[in-house]
Amino acid sequence: MAKSPAKVILFGEHFVVHGSYAIASSVNECFATVEIIDKDDWGATSDYSKVSIFYNKEKVKESSTLHNAVLIMLNEFSIKKNMKIVVTSNIKGSGLGSSAAFCVAFAREMNKKFNLGLNDLKINELAYTGETAFHGTPSGLDNTACCFGGIIQFKKHKQAGIYEANFQKIQLKEKINLIVVYTDKSSSTKEMVEKVNFFRNNHEERFAQMIKELNTIIDDAKYAMQTGAVFELGRLMFQNQKLLEEIGVSTPEIKGILNIAINNGALGGKLTGGGGGGSVILLYDKDTPKDNIILSLEKAGYSCFTTRIC
Ligand code: MEV
Repeated sequence: MAKSPAKVILFGEHFVVHGSYAIASSVNECFATVEIIDKDDWGATSDYSKVSIFYNKEKVKESSTLHNAVLIMLNEFSIKKNMKIVVTSNIKGSGLGSSAAFCVAFAREMNKKFNLGLNDLKINELAYTGETAFHGTPSGLDNTACCFGGIIQFKKHKQAGIYEANFQKIQLKEKINLIVVYTDKSSSTKEMVEKVNFFRNNHEERFAQMIKELNTIIDDAKYAMQTGAVFELGRLMFQNQKLLEEIGVSTPEIKGILNIAINNGALGGKLTGGGGGGSVILLYDKDTPKDNIILSLEKAGYSCFTTRIC
C-alpha cells in the first residue's frame, strides 16, 4: 500500500497557472492511500476492462474522472495487467488536493508493486499526467506539494507540454499553525480556472499587475517564514485573499468565515485551492488560544481541523 498527504496552498493559487510563484505545503492529517491487489493472477489485459477501482469501498464507474486518471497513468506506465485498485481517502470537500494525493499515491503504489525503480521526480511527473484528467492543464503545484512534502515555493515550468517540477523547499524558523475550515460548498477547480481565464482575457493589464503584486507578497511571505514573523505572514495572507476576491474565486461564505476568524483572534486567512467554496485556511499565533476561533466557527456550523506546517 502507498500513501500521499493532502496539501494546502498558502499563497498564489490561480496566479500560478499564469506564471506567478506559489507557496504550498503538504498536510499530513489528511491523506489518500492506494493498494493494488492482483486479480486473475495478473493476466494481461488489452483494453483495461479488467481494471476495477474501489474508492472508499464503493466501486468507481468506468466513465468517472478517477477511472480516466487511472487509464491515463496506466498508459504512461505501459503496464497492462488485470488489477483491482483500492483507494481510501479522508480528504474531504475541495481545495485540499484530493485528486493530486490520489495520483501521487497511485504512482507510488505502481512503483512498489511492479518494482519500477522510479525516483520522486518521476513519480511526480506521472502524478501530473493523472492530474490532467481532473483539471485539464494544471500548474503541477498540487502534485508537487503532495509528492515532496514539507513547504515549497513553486513556479510552473515554462515550456508547454513538458512537465518538470520547478520548486525549492523553504526552511521555516517556526512552525506555522493553521486551522483548516470546510465551507459548505465543493466546487470544480477546472471551472474556477476557466473563470480566472475569462477575467484575465478581459482585464489583461490589471491581471499582469496582480501577478507582480502577488510575487512581491510571496517574496515577503518567504522572508516572514524564514524569520518567524507570524503577524506579517497573516497580513500577507489577507492581501493574497483580496487578489483572489478581485478575480472572482472567493464567495460571501468564505468572507463570512474570515470575518468570524478575525473577530476571534486569527492573524490571517484566505481561501486555499480552487475557491468557489472549498476550504479556507486561518493562521493563528502559538501564544494565542485557538479555541475561540474554532468554537465560533463550529457555532456557525463549520467543521475544521488544526495542522502545523513544518
Ligand atoms: C488548485 O489546487 C490550484 C490552482 O492554482 C490550479 C493549479 O495550480 O493547477 C487553482
